[in-house]
Amino acid sequence: MNILILGGGGREHSLAWAVMQNPKCDKLIVSPGNAGIAQIAECAALDIVDGGAVAEFAQQNAIDLVIVGPEAPLAAGVADRLRDTGIAVFGPSAAAARLEASKRFTKEICDAAGVPTAAYAHFSDPQAARAHVRARGAPIVVKADGLAAGKGVIVAETEAQALAAIDEMFAGSFGAAGAEVVIEEFMEGEEASLFVLCDGKTVLPIGSAQDHKRVGEGDTGPNTGGMGAYSPAPVLSPDIEARAMDRIVRPTIAEMARRGTPYQGVLYAGLMIRDGQPRLVEYNVRFGDPECQVLMMRLGAQALDLMHAAAEGRLAGARVNWADDHAMTVVLAARGYPGAHATGSVIGGLDGLPETAFEMCFHAGTARRDGKVVAAGGRVLNATARGDTLAQARARAYAMADAIDWPQGFYRRDIGWRALDGA
Ligand code: AMP
Ligand code: GLY
Repeated sequence: MNILILGGGGREHSLAWAVMQNPKCDKLIVSPGNAGIAQIAECAALDIVDGGAVAEFAQQNAIDLVIVGPEAPLAAGVADRLRDTGIAVFGPSAAAARLEASKRFTKEICDAAGVPTAAYAHFSDPQAARAHVRARGAPIVVKADGLAAGKGVIVAETEAQALAAIDEMFAGSFGAAGAEVVIEEFMEGEEASLFVLCDGKTVLPIGSAQDHKRVGEGDTGPNTGGMGAYSPAPVLSPDIEARAMDRIVRPTIAEMARRGTPYQGVLYAGLMIRDGQPRLVEYNVRFGDPECQVLMMRLGAQALDLMHAAAEGRLAGARVNWADDHAMTVVLAARGYPGAHATGSVIGGLDGLPETAFEMCFHAGTARRDGKVVAAGGRVLNATARGDTLAQARARAYAMADAIDWPQGFYRRDIGWRALDGA
């Protein structure tokens, strides 16, 4: 089978790594890829949000399956275009990708399907939004309706913060994404993510994870795309996972099918858990980054068979072979991230790192210059490992992070603290 993966971050490196372990993969191309991906697959330049260009490239290269990493190509309809061309694709249609691309749409689906989630109201007029915040008080959550690269959510602790967020969104700081805002009840509890594969009808859970969104140790400081993650999420006990499947995921998938926009791909359900009850925070229509890295570390080669089955509507017969294991990934970021940071600094020590079924340093934002690997983004490397226990996975991941020679980078030392302190 010839496979094309779209994307070029740590998520896509881990997808490529898992796919390459499967003997069914004859050829793998990743677009655009990065310096780490280039060591295991062919990288190609391509405008990945241009469905026509992707379909033409896939035909020219006799691609049998396209795996879409990020949300932007999905929201732009790249999966629709590929399917129209007769190429199997892992990822939802633009209509189904609205589960991530529009927060208001997701709320409407929740209402229609009876999914427990935060109470909400939506506004396209700043005055009405402001009045709503004044009536409700803080804490309260203000969200830009559309895709805002993970930055369109303000959890406001005070009314003033919420009002400022509304002004900012309507002033266009998130572009078209903020032309409409959703204002939500603040939910308390512990967050965890549940990942399921869907083929339009059948739903198959493939694991849970928790990430650390704040840049600083102790979960302090500004929000980031994620500074580390681990799987499984201890808070998502089998009972709570079953409840989330029955009350949240399955009703959503059934409602999408009922509307004639069946969901196919991976659905990432962000959950808030309190008193044993899960409520939906948000959906994403792709794997999380860096959550994907820990899931791929645990699933290995079977990830390809499962994604292929989802793409071809064959999930009913599919099964996940679980090992009783744990995985952790530690993100190495450029100093200054998530604020301004330099690129181009040289990273040493990578050649000596272990590359086994238990340990892998995925590249998130790297490039090769004059034969050397250099930083090319905010989040740059993901030291990822698995073990029989989370403590063992952590020891292996940090041994890798510590062996990397990159003075211009930093990482949090406390990934997994919540799960490990209680252990
Ligand atoms: P989202 O982009 O929707 O994942 O939101 C980013 C983060 O904001 C989530 O991971 C939560 O930590 C937080 N958040 C979003 N909505 C709520 C809510 N209604 N109550 C509490 N926290 C929330
Ligand atoms: N790590 C959070 C996300 O991928 O959205």
